[in-house]
Amino acid sequence: MLEHLQEILHAIGPWLPHIFAGLILLLILQKYGGSHIQPIFFAKVYNPFLGTYHVTCQALKRQHFLSMKDHVSADPVLRKRGALRILEIGPGPGYNFEFYPPNSELTVVEVNPYFEEQFFRKQKDHPHIKMERFVVGFAENMKDVPDNSVDIVVSTMVLCSVRSVEGALKEIHRILAPGGKYYYWEHIREAEYMWVLFVQHLASYTFYDLVFGCQLNRKSDEIIKRNKAGFSSIDQQRFRTPQKGGFQAICIFHSSHVKGIATK
Ligand SMILES: C[S@@+](CC[C@H](N)C(=O)[O-])C[C@H]1O[C@@H](n2cnc3c(N)ncnc32)[C@H](O)[C@@H]1O
Repeated sequence: MLEHLQEILHAIGPWLPHIFAGLILLLILQKYGGSHIQPIFFAKVYNPFLGTYHVTCQALKRQHFLSMKDHVSADPVLRKRGALRILEIGPGPGYNFEFYPPNSELTVVEVNPYFEEQFFRKQKDHPHIKMERFVVGFAENMKDVPDNSVDIVVSTMVLCSVRSVEGALKEIHRILAPGGKYYYWEHIREAEYMWVLFVQHLASYTFYDLVFGCQLNRKSDEIIKRNKAGFSSIDQQRFRTPQKGGFQAICIFHSSHVKGIATK
């Protein structure tokens, strides 16, 4: 571990003054420039920051979402058309369109309105999805979405960011129709490499949440298992993505992940 820490310090050492100055600037902007500075910044850097993550994970994600096409809608009108009503929380720029079955009707609940433009740009490439609504709001409070009204809920890399995982799970369960499914894919607290966990803790308790609105050390898998939120079954597995290379890749994108399907 000491050896890894030395490596880490050696790698980030020259950047520390820049990081520190950037953080101070962001804090000042947050304080005096209003609460929209972080969301604007995040929406701008998200695509470059994620780099190749979505490309590397594409096949694995496709496999995870595959069973969605066999799901039968609880709504008789949609059922006749072979369509599903899907709600995605925190879609960001919209990386998941390609995994949704044709004719799906999609509503999204996204807290950051600055993603909307990128999201609708991407939607144009996926005409097989019918866009219902882009709701700017919190997954923990989806008051505009009626009880038992959705066939499928999806989140990818969102539970690390919500203010309350338990609150989001409760809402997801409420809006799902009986038999409805919640598909999730999340990065979680590192379970194997202690030095990665150390970096995750250090980043989470200092700047990471402030800058990227994300807790790297969150145990979303354990919260789901413990909380259950009324789901009749939860089928989840820990895994690592095939993403390789670079400090950031190791600490976030190749770190412990969980994917699962919870059934109401
Ligand atoms: C790390 S990004 C993931 C984006 C996308 N799902 C993906 O897989 O690339 C987290 C997203 O969740 C959104 N988010 C954070 N907290 C949220 C909340 N409480 N309710 C809804 N969306 C939220 C963020 O604005 C951001 O778009």
